[in-house]
Amino acid sequence: MTQIRSVHSWCLGVTLQLVLAALLHQGFATVAPPTTAAPHKDPGRPDRGNYHVASTNGTACLLASMGLQLNVTFSSISQNKTLVEVVNLQPNLTKSSGSCDKESASLKLTADGDKTNLTFFFTLNTTSNKYYLSEVSLSATWPDMKAPFSTRNNSLDYLQGTLGHSYMCREEQTLDVTQELSINTFQLQVQPFGLKGGQFGAAEECQLDEDDMLIPIIVGAALAGLVLIVLLAYLIGRKRSHAGYQTI
Ligand SMILES: *[C@@H]1O[C@H](CO)[C@@H](O)[C@H](O)[C@H]1NC(C)=O
Ligand SMILES: *[C@@H]1O[C@H](CO)[C@@H](O)[C@H](O)[C@H]1NC(C)=O
Ligand SMILES: *[C@@H]1O[C@H](CO)[C@@H](O)[C@H](O)[C@H]1NC(C)=O
Ligand SMILES: *[C@@H]1O[C@H](CO)[C@@H](O)[C@H](O)[C@H]1NC(C)=O
Ligand SMILES: *[C@@H]1O[C@H](CO)[C@@H](O)[C@H](O)[C@H]1NC(C)=O
Ligand SMILES: *[C@@H]1O[C@H](CO)[C@@H](O)[C@H](O)[C@H]1NC(C)=O
Ligand SMILES: *[C@@H]1O[C@H](CO)[C@@H](O)[C@H](O)[C@H]1NC(C)=O
Repeated sequence: MTQIRSVHSWCLGVTLQLVLAALLHQGFATVAPPTTAAPHKDPGRPDRGNYHVASTNGTACLLASMGLQLNVTFSSISQNKTLVEVVNLQPNLTKSSGSCDKESASLKLTADGDKTNLTFFFTLNTTSNKYYLSEVSLSATWPDMKAPFSTRNNSLDYLQGTLGHSYMCREEQTLDVTQELSINTFQLQVQPFGLKGGQFGAAEECQLDEDDMLIPIIVGAALAGLVLIVLLAYLIGRKRSHAGYQTI
């Protein structure tokens, strides 16, 4: 009996630990962002915008749905020093344009009048049939900037997807562009090549999302294990007590 008990409580212990670990992981995952990112002014979560580029016959050849947050380091006039400013792109004040070629495509987002131009360049590798975000540039003339801001990186390798599929990342993702610019993306889905009828192809989910989906699976499996163990313990207990009655 004691042996059964100890095995029983060991199983229970492991299961509870799994459940706890999973819950804690989720807790930290949702709590962490505000504490790590400590901007002097938090703009909150950006709204999701739907942007597209059309080919000459009018059908969309590039589609992107995402919330965008720019993290820009620039020289401020008012404070006479380098400032880090976190700014959300407002979809209703943002216009999209761009181009679609066989092996390259671009999406240019123009926001608050003409004061912010953010451009994404995508490249298709026709050997592997994979596409990726290869270049990002930002030019801005915000009121407090000492000089017009301009930065660019053309050796990036983000948002990799397969031709004919869209790339999706529901979780917040940070794209480090240069020392002066990083971009936080929210609920992103993008497809720069191989659209059929101007629609998104099947989505390929990013690693962050897959990790996130793992948590409910672990919790579920742990709970299922717990139920099984309780059931087993009950059945064993019943058998024991049956045996007990017979000897009396
Ligand atoms: C903005 O970038 C700075 C460093 O460049 C970083 O410390 C900060 O956490 C970032 N903020 C957000 C909200 O991404
Ligand atoms: C529009 O052009 C694209 C290529 O530029 C082509 O794949 C698509 O079939 C065309 N759609 C229509 C309706 O003609
Ligand atoms: C700005 O800061 C620099 C040094 O950090 C200083 O020399 C200059 O006088 C300051 N300018 C103003 C207008 O405060
Ligand atoms: C744009 O959207 C924001 C928030 O969604 C809203 O506060 C603002 O009034 C809108 N501006 C225009 C010009 O529609
Ligand atoms: C395209 O992909 C192939 C296979 O993965 C790789 O060997 C090649 O270097 C890539 N080409 C470019 C231009 O990145
Ligand atoms: C953004 O692009 C538009 C159109 O090309 C241009 O007129 C404007 O000056 C640009 N703004 C900045 C800040 O570079
Ligand atoms: C451009 O991005 C690459 C990859 O993230 C990085 O190694 C490189 O330092 C960046 N270049 C600049 C000018 O910031």
